[in-house]
Amino acid sequence: MLLIAGLTGLLLTGSQCGTPAGKKTGIADRIPAIITDSVYLYPGNIYSEEKRELGRFLFYDTRLSVNNTRSCASCHDPRFSFADNYNRSIGAFGDLHQRNSRPLINLVFNPYLTGADTAVHFPELQMNRPLMSEHPVEMGVKGNEAFILQRLQSDTLYGYLFSKAYPADPSAFSMEHIRLAIADFIKTLISAETAYDRYRQDSVRYPLPMAAMRGKQLFFSDRLACYRCHGGINFARPELKTAEGKTDFYFNTGLYNIDGKGSYPATDHGLAASTGNPRDEGKFRVPILRNLIFTAPYLHDGSAQTLEEVIRVYEEGGRNLTRGPNAGDGRKNPLKDPLIKGFVLTAGERKDLIHFLYSLTDSVVLNKKENANPFR
Ligand code: HEC
Ligand code: HEC
Repeated sequence: MLLIAGLTGLLLTGSQCGTPAGKKTGIADRIPAIITDSVYLYPGNIYSEEKRELGRFLFYDTRLSVNNTRSCASCHDPRFSFADNYNRSIGAFGDLHQRNSRPLINLVFNPYLTGADTAVHFPELQMNRPLMSEHPVEMGVKGNEAFILQRLQSDTLYGYLFSKAYPADPSAFSMEHIRLAIADFIKTLISAETAYDRYRQDSVRYPLPMAAMRGKQLFFSDRLACYRCHGGINFARPELKTAEGKTDFYFNTGLYNIDGKGSYPATDHGLAASTGNPRDEGKFRVPILRNLIFTAPYLHDGSAQTLEEVIRVYEEGGRNLTRGPNAGDGRKNPLKDPLIKGFVLTAGERKDLIHFLYSLTDSVVLNKKENANPFR
C-alpha cells in the first residue's frame, strides 16, 4: 500500500507507516490488503486512536451546532451510509443546502473532496464548511466558537476525552483540535466488505449471483463505459486525464441545459463556480458507488430518486427535462462529456446493471460498534 501525505510528493510506503505488531496506532493498520489504492492523509494531523474516540463523540454531538439541532451525523447518518436521505441537506436553521449529502466512507482514497472544488483535499480542511459556513448555515459555529467550546467543556466527559487525546497540551480544548479529532474518526470509516470485494478476493469461494455477474460485464464494457469514469476501490477514480496529463475527476453528464448553451441551475454551476472557467459549467466530481442502496436520492442535487432514473440518463446520453424552471435538453448540452453518448439496454440488462451496483453494498462498516453513536 502507498500512503501519500499531502498531494505534492511525500510518499510513504506501508512499512514506513507500519506499527509494532499487535498495537493499532495508524490508519495504515486499518486498511485491508485488498485495497491497493493510494491513501491521502493531511500532513498536519497524525492519527491516534484516542483522538479518533474523541472525534466519534463530537461527530454525533448536536451541541457542536449553535442551536443544538445538528451534528455531523444529522447529515451523515450511518443508516444512510453516512449521508442523509434528503434531496438536498438541511442546515441548523432549516436552510436548504446547495447539494445532496455525501457518504463519508473510504474518504482516505479520494484525493478531492466535495462535489466541485479542486482545492479541498482533506476532511481536516473540508470540515470548515459545515462548521463555519453562513450561506447557508449548516452548523452555525462561526462567531459562536467561544460559547460552543464552553458548552462542550462544561461536560466532564469531554474534559476526560480531550486529556486522553491531547495529553501534553493544556490548551487542548480548541476548534482546531475538534476538527482534527473528527477527521481521525471519519478517516477510519473504511469499507472493503462488499460481495464484490469478496468476489475479487476469491471468485471461487465467493461467486457473484448470475444477475450481478451479467451487470458487471455491462459496467466494464466499452458499450456502457461506466468503468472509464468509475474506477478504483470507490468506483470514483476515472482513467481519463486532463490536458496536463493528470487524472480528471470532474465531468459534465448532461443533466441540464437550461439555455441551450449548457447552463446548469443558478443554485449550482458545479466546478465553474470555483475555477471561474465557463467550460467547467455543470462538471461534478465522480461520486463513490459503494452503498448506493442506502444513499438515495442520487446526483449532486438529489434530482434522481432511483438508480433506474440515473441509468436512464446514461442510456439517453443526458437528461431531457421537459417541465419546470430547469427545463432543457441535457442530451444536447454542448459541454457534456463525449463518453455520455447514450446506448440501448433491454429491461433485463438494466436490472442486471442495478444488481451489480447492489453487489457494492457494505453494511459491515455501518454497523460496527466502534463507528456507532456513543450517546445511545
Ligand atoms: C446540514 C447538513 C450537513 C452537516 C451538518 C454536515 N455536512 Fe458534511 N456534507 C454535507 C453536504 C451537503 C455535502 C456535500 C457538499 C458538496 O458536495 O459540496 C457534505 C460533504 C462532506 C464531506 C466531503 C465528502 C466527499 O465525499 O466529498 C465531508 C468530509 C463532510 N461533509 C464532513 C462533515 C463533518 C465532519 C461534519 C460535522 C462537523 C459535517 N460534514 C456536517 C452536509 C452536511
Ligand atoms: C464521463 C464520466 C462518467 C461515465 C462514463 C459514467 N459516469 Fe456515473 N457519474 C459521473 C459523474 C460526474 C457523476 C455525478 C454527476 C452529478 O451529480 O452531477 C456520476 C454519477 C453517477 C451515479 C449517482 C451516484 C450518487 O451517489 O449520486 C451513479 C449511480 C452512476 N454515476 C453510475 C454510472 C453508471 C452505471 C455508468 C455507466 C452506464 C456511469 N455512471 C457512467 C461520471 C460518469
